[in-house]
Amino acid sequence: MVRLSAAVLTAVLHMTSAASGTKSTHPAKTYAECQRRTYKPLSGCPSGTLFVSQSSFAANFTSIQSAIASLPNDNSSHTILIAPGNYTEQLNVTRPGPLTLLGQSDDPYRGISYGASVSSDTDRRNGVQVLWAAANTDSTGQLMDNANTSVLTVAPTWNASLTGSGPTGFPVPADTPFGSSDFRAYNIDFRNVYSLQAAGPALAVNVAYANAGFYGCGFYSYQDTVYIGKLGNAYFYDNVVAGQTDFLYGFGTAWLERSTLALRNCGGGITAWKAGTNTTFINKYGVYISDSRIIAANASIAATIAGKCALGRPWNSLHRSIFMESYLDGSTLPAGYIKWGGTDPRYSNNLTLMAVYNDYGPGYNVSAMKASNVTVVLNDAGVVQYQSPADVLSNPDGSITNVSWIDATGLFY
Ligand SMILES: *[C@@H]1O[C@H](CO)[C@@H](O)[C@H](O)[C@H]1NC(C)=O
Ligand SMILES: *[C@@H]1O[C@H](CO)[C@@H](O)[C@H](O)[C@H]1NC(C)=O
Ligand SMILES: *[C@@H]1O[C@H](CO)[C@@H](O)[C@H](O)[C@H]1NC(C)=O
Ligand SMILES: *[C@@H]1O[C@H](CO)[C@@H](O)[C@H](O)[C@H]1NC(C)=O
Ligand SMILES: *[C@@H]1O[C@H](CO)[C@@H](O)[C@H](O)[C@H]1NC(C)=O
Ligand SMILES: *[C@@H]1O[C@H](CO)[C@@H](O)[C@H](O)[C@H]1NC(C)=O
Ligand SMILES: *[C@@H]1O[C@H](CO)[C@@H](O)[C@H](O)[C@H]1NC(C)=O
Ligand SMILES: *[C@@H]1O[C@H](CO)[C@@H](O)[C@H](O)[C@H]1NC(C)=O
Ligand SMILES: *[C@@H]1O[C@H](CO)[C@@H](O)[C@H](O)[C@H]1NC(C)=O
Ligand SMILES: *[C@@H]1O[C@H](CO)[C@@H](O)[C@H](O)[C@H]1NC(C)=O
Ligand SMILES: *[C@@H]1O[C@H](CO)[C@@H](O)[C@H](O)[C@H]1NC(C)=O
Ligand SMILES: *[C@@H]1O[C@H](CO)[C@@H](O)[C@H](O)[C@H]1NC(C)=O
Repeated sequence: MVRLSAAVLTAVLHMTSAASGTKSTHPAKTYAECQRRTYKPLSGCPSGTLFVSQSSFAANFTSIQSAIASLPNDNSSHTILIAPGNYTEQLNVTRPGPLTLLGQSDDPYRGISYGASVSSDTDRRNGVQVLWAAANTDSTGQLMDNANTSVLTVAPTWNASLTGSGPTGFPVPADTPFGSSDFRAYNIDFRNVYSLQAAGPALAVNVAYANAGFYGCGFYSYQDTVYIGKLGNAYFYDNVVAGQTDFLYGFGTAWLERSTLALRNCGGGITAWKAGTNTTFINKYGVYISDSRIIAANASIAATIAGKCALGRPWNSLHRSIFMESYLDGSTLPAGYIKWGGTDPRYSNNLTLMAVYNDYGPGYNVSAMKASNVTVVLNDAGVVQYQSPADVLSNPDGSITNVSWIDATGLFY
């Protein structure tokens, strides 16, 4: 397995995000030999890898969560290989040590990417599907927390994963330990299949107080698909994220690279951030979409949403998001971002950063964006502090984190 020093990785990540136009898209191949489907499922896998299958005699477990629950709650590294199948279960990763979930697939070995170049959200499916159906349909937030609904949760405690309500959300206890230092998933689809339209928060993933990287994965829901909670650091490479309303939201920091955001309809905005655990230091919490594609989920929905989908809206006034060097099809609103709501704008000239940088495609209308007074069109000097994951992902104290948990092998071809 290829491991890079933080310094080399930082340099590489800077280099690739500074180049433009000609990005190639390749799967992350670090575990290609292990993921490959052969008659000996664990050949090419790290020693001690557990195998989950609903039908194989070689399986250690038949459900993914039972394999996760078998692991010690310590800093040791573990790998779980999962055979193709539909797994209807909620996954919950609380342990601090590195954990890698691998969907069995020949695609990385054959060099086939998942999310970087699909034409619709049904174009490709991973063999491993993790499914759950739950939404927080209580508008007061009193009966359920959004955290109840997620297909996958990576957080040290239940309280750390809670969303809560109000401008600063659930007050996570100060003594909460940090969760996974290095959680990874490769070639797995996480689907919250509660409804075929936005019907309350229905999370596919919840990352809080933890580091998580996703490679060749899919996240499918309609509302609030991807939630990055407080102190969550998440990296998405070659993924599909499909949703309708506020479908990338949270408090922490997310970097999406060479991925596809599939618009299943419009609602709210694509991004809705509260970069406000209200720190005493300058933070870079927010969502950064780099070298990616924002497209209608299919041709029929494209006709309905043409020119209508907002890039984002401020969940609180500390919202921070940047769509950079990305392709916007004709689905997005020419003005880009919007305020939260008519009587509740949640927008501040000083604090809110709802930005674009050097995007392209029929949905990228710079003059309309500038005229909105809401969308910030960044120049080179404005984007320089947000150019790579190594610029923005941070430790609990605000210092920039060691990004060695990011697998950047897909960026090397
Ligand atoms: C998992 O199953 C394999 C056989 O497929 C076995 O060799 C291995 O010991 C099992 N691992 C555990 C932790 O039980
Ligand atoms: C894991 O490592 C961290 C940082 O080195 C340490 O603070 C923590 O106590 C360790 N946790 C366990 C359960 O060993
Ligand atoms: C999983 O579910 C999908 C859709 O219902 C179905 O097409 C597919 O055959 C199922 N896969 C397996 C391995 O059962
Ligand atoms: C949802 O979360 C709350 C905590 O906010 C908890 O008390 C409740 O039991 C959960 N409900 C379900 C259905 O899990
Ligand atoms: C995850 O596990 C923690 C610790 O066991 C538990 O408190 C929490 O309720 C679980 N969350 C989910 C969504 O199952
Ligand atoms: C979780 O938060 C609730 C509500 O603030 C609190 O009552 C409870 O003690 C917390 N649990 C832990 C384990 O910190
Ligand atoms: C297109 O996407 C929408 C939104 O997900 C879905 O409702 C519809 O069934 C899809 N249509 C086709 C032809 O796939
Ligand atoms: C941040 O904290 C300060 C002082 O505690 C408070 O005045 C301010 O309203 C808080 N801001 C947000 C967005 O919560
Ligand atoms: C925002 O900035 C303006 C000047 O640019 C200043 O007058 C105002 O006090 C600031 N507002 C806040 C809430 O910081
Ligand atoms: C861009 O938006 C402006 C309104 O600000 C509109 O007049 C113009 O036609 C749009 N350009 C394109 C190419 O859609
Ligand atoms: C943007 O600001 C300018 C100058 O203050 C103003 O003339 C224009 O009406 C504003 N546009 C919108 C859409 O609010
Ligand atoms: C970053 O973390 C890795 C893995 O924990 C470690 O090997 C490396 O020394 C760290 N680098 C720095 C600069 O701290």
